[in-house]
Order: sequence, then C-alpha cells, then structure tokens
Amino acid sequence: MRQENSGAVPRHIAIIMDGNGRWAKKRFLPRLAGHKQGVESLRRCARACVERGVQVLTVFAFSSENWSRPEEEVSGLMGLLATALAKEVKQLSRDGVRLHFVGERAGLSDKVCAGLADAEKTTAHNDRLILNVCFNYGGRWDIVQAAAQLAARGEPMTEQALARAMALAHVPDPDLLIRTGGEMRVSNFLLWQLAYAELFFSSCLWPDFDEATLDEAIAVFAGRERRFGQTSEQVQQTS
Ligand code: IPE
Ligand code: IPE
Ligand code: MG
Repeated sequence: MRQENSGAVPRHIAIIMDGNGRWAKKRFLPRLAGHKQGVESLRRCARACVERGVQVLTVFAFSSENWSRPEEEVSGLMGLLATALAKEVKQLSRDGVRLHFVGERAGLSDKVCAGLADAEKTTAHNDRLILNVCFNYGGRWDIVQAAAQLAARGEPMTEQALARAMALAHVPDPDLLIRTGGEMRVSNFLLWQLAYAELFFSSCLWPDFDEATLDEAIAVFAGRERRFGQTSEQVQQTS
C-alpha cells in the first residue's frame, strides 16, 4: 500500500506571498493597496497556522531584488513594515506568535531596525508559533553570509557548520513551500533550506489566500510520500 506523509500537519511551512500587485491592479487600486491587504492575509494565515498546530511559519516579505522596484513602491513597503509593526505585534503576541526578522539589516533605516528588534523582544516569550518574516532577504545572501562567518572564525566548511550559520538555524528546514500568485519559481527564497521541502503552487493571489487554500496545501502535503533519496519500499519499511 502507498505510504502517505503520515497525514501530518507540516511542522514548518514557508510561503512566497506573491500576487499583491495583481490583486490591486484588478481593482484599479495602487499596488500599495495590495500590499496592505497582504498584511491582513498574513495575520489570518498566522492565526490559522496556530490553530492547526503548525510550529513554524516563514514568509517572504521583501527580497534582495525588490529594491529594484519603483522608488515609490519601495518606500511604501518600508512604511508599511513600520505601520504593521506598530499595529500587529500586540495581536500576534496574544495569539502566541514569536516573531523573528530574517535578512540583511544593512539598507534598512535605524528606525525600522529598532522596530524589528523591539517586536522580537516583545514576543520572545511566546511559544505557539514561530513566525519568521524574511525582509531584505535572499537565499544567495544567506549562503554567502553563513560562509563568511565560517571563514572569519577559521572554521572548516562542512554542511553542518554552514547550516548552523544560516539565517534560519533556529528552526528545522521547511516541510512545505507554498507560493501564491501562480508563478512556479523560487525567486531566490530559501535556496539552502528548501532542499527537501514539498512544493505547492497556487494561482490564488496572496491577499485572497484563506484557510481553505491553506487546508488544501496541507492536504496535498499529507498525501505526498517524502523519500529523502530512498526508495518507496525503504520508506514504507521504516515507517
Ligand atoms: C508580492 O507581491 C509582495 C512583494 C514582492 C513585496 P507582488 O508585489 O510581487 O505582486 P505581483 O506579483 O506584482 O502581483
Ligand atoms: C518574490 O516575489 C518575493 C516576495 C514575495 C517578497 P517577486 O514578485 O519579487 O518574484 P518575481 O520577481 O516574480 O520572481
Ligand atoms: Mg510578484
């Protein structure tokens, strides 16, 4: 009989939250309105993950490459981050969410950096869900910064040592990657950590992402057989 993925809820879900701009365009709204709605969607999604027993949620909010967008959109996104920090942290904390901001801090204003540190401190005692927000993050940046740490310490380059220096070393690798917005690419997200993640692509635009789409992704995940290089027979014998 075919062994399914133990009907399990993924311990760690990663999401490329894409499609905000198209959501806004469809409504003849400015792109920033789509990003604002995207924050609402993230709040809903974090709560749904808590309810389903997901332990870690990692979301892609701003990539290293997103700096190349029009100045107006970039500054709008920086402003939105500051507003979201001021508005959302209390409720997320009440829901038991512990926040981590992952990515290069250089390039972000002192005020934004202070806000990130503050939100991490305020939520540090929460233990229902770890929410990693990848902001000014790139998978290539992450690998290079980890390698640079090892080089600076004169530490031998091993897989384990590099993994310990990566930006998500505090959590296990993602089990499931969801990308909304219909594109089937990774766009420089967690290049190292996604080695064995199951992939789920949805045409749903991120502001429309709801519990039904999350449950669909979890159900598809539960039906997958994760073999990690082994044969199906080996997996079934050891489970
Ligand atoms: C994702 O939505 C959010 C960010 C990249 C900041 P987009 O802004 O990429 O939305 P589309 O892909 O243009 O619809
Ligand atoms: C990926 O989306 C980055 C985020 C969701 C933050 P993009 O919209 O930037 O990706 P591409 O450019 O379509 O690959
Ligand atoms: Mg996009």
